[in-house]
Amino acid sequence: MRLHPKARPIISKLSLPTPIQKYFSNCEWDIDLSNNTNPYLGDLSDYPDIKQYQLKKLYLKTLLFLTPPPSFTENNKPPLTPNNILFTAGSMEAIDLLLRTFSEPNTDAICVTSPTFSAYEHWSLIHNLRVKKLPLYGDNLNQLSVDKVMRMNPKITFICDPNNPTGTKIKPELIQKLCDSLEGFVVIDEAYIEFSDHSSSIFNLHHHENLIILRTLSKAWGLAGVRCGAIIADASIINVLRYVQLPFTVSSPSQVSVKKQLLNPESTFASWRRIKKNRDDLIESLSKVKGVTKVFKSETNFIMVILNNFQKTMGLLQEHKIQVLDCSKNYPSAIRVSIGNEEQNKKFLDVIHFASKD
Ligand SMILES: Cc1ncc(COP(=O)(O)O)c(C=O)c1O
Repeated sequence: MRLHPKARPIISKLSLPTPIQKYFSNCEWDIDLSNNTNPYLGDLSDYPDIKQYQLKKLYLKTLLFLTPPPSFTENNKPPLTPNNILFTAGSMEAIDLLLRTFSEPNTDAICVTSPTFSAYEHWSLIHNLRVKKLPLYGDNLNQLSVDKVMRMNPKITFICDPNNPTGTKIKPELIQKLCDSLEGFVVIDEAYIEFSDHSSSIFNLHHHENLIILRTLSKAWGLAGVRCGAIIADASIINVLRYVQLPFTVSSPSQVSVKKQLLNPESTFASWRRIKKNRDDLIESLSKVKGVTKVFKSETNFIMVILNNFQKTMGLLQEHKIQVLDCSKNYPSAIRVSIGNEEQNKKFLDVIHFASKD
């Protein structure tokens, strides 16, 4: 298979990493004496399943169950298959992997919105890429100028949707316009999509070959400790990523944990309903507090809140040993608070009430 034309030129000079070559060749074997592993010590002495075909099928089934496709075979394109998925050690690995595969250090520009999740900028800078910031605007900070992005000519544009820390979602038309207008890749990080009632960009994959979706098992699926995320994209993109990804980053125990969670999703689904209800209750309560200037209408499991008296409130939260994220560097007087359990949310709200007293 020809490697993706937008991959860094160095990659076309390389083979797949040696330890994984045999899994992607046509050869078959009954006895594997090529790995220098210990034959006496059980299941984990083998390297993890690298193709994860069954796990990917199960994951796809779950994705499509959660957001049924409008008509996946539109334009006579085949439906999504395991060839469209690459599991990674969390989305953080996915971000780094995409940068290393497609963007040339000291040359390419990366576009990140502002405010957004800091990792896109962090790993771009590590790779000596130029980071161009695109300010989000509008009441919900969910509007962006496609023309501005086009002028930046980015190799990759990262859009977090719903966005961290605002919790708000961008209109699907804007994402489609971005994909249509840009030569580079548009990466939609859907780390929190399970908490939104609006649609995923997954169904646009068939219309845009430059679209890449990131998902993670760390948030809604409650598996942050397992380290598993997924890149969902055109098969030619997934193929070239294999040349760059460190072999076997998704361990066997991780794969077992993900499978277990996907096969028994009911309690996970119930927890989402509970978190969404608690979030909406907290948004309503916070909106009535005098010391709160603005509460963003979140579609995630956190809320961005603009405080009237930032220093005093942060001090009180600290005194009560409650951690929230200080976002004031990116947006004046802003904090991001995760939705905890009922008791934790109440304690947080009590402090906010207390801080509003004169
Ligand atoms: C938007 C976003 N993407 C990705 C991640 C990283 O997730 P993972 O645990 O899968 O690396 C986070 C974690 O906070 C996040 O907020």
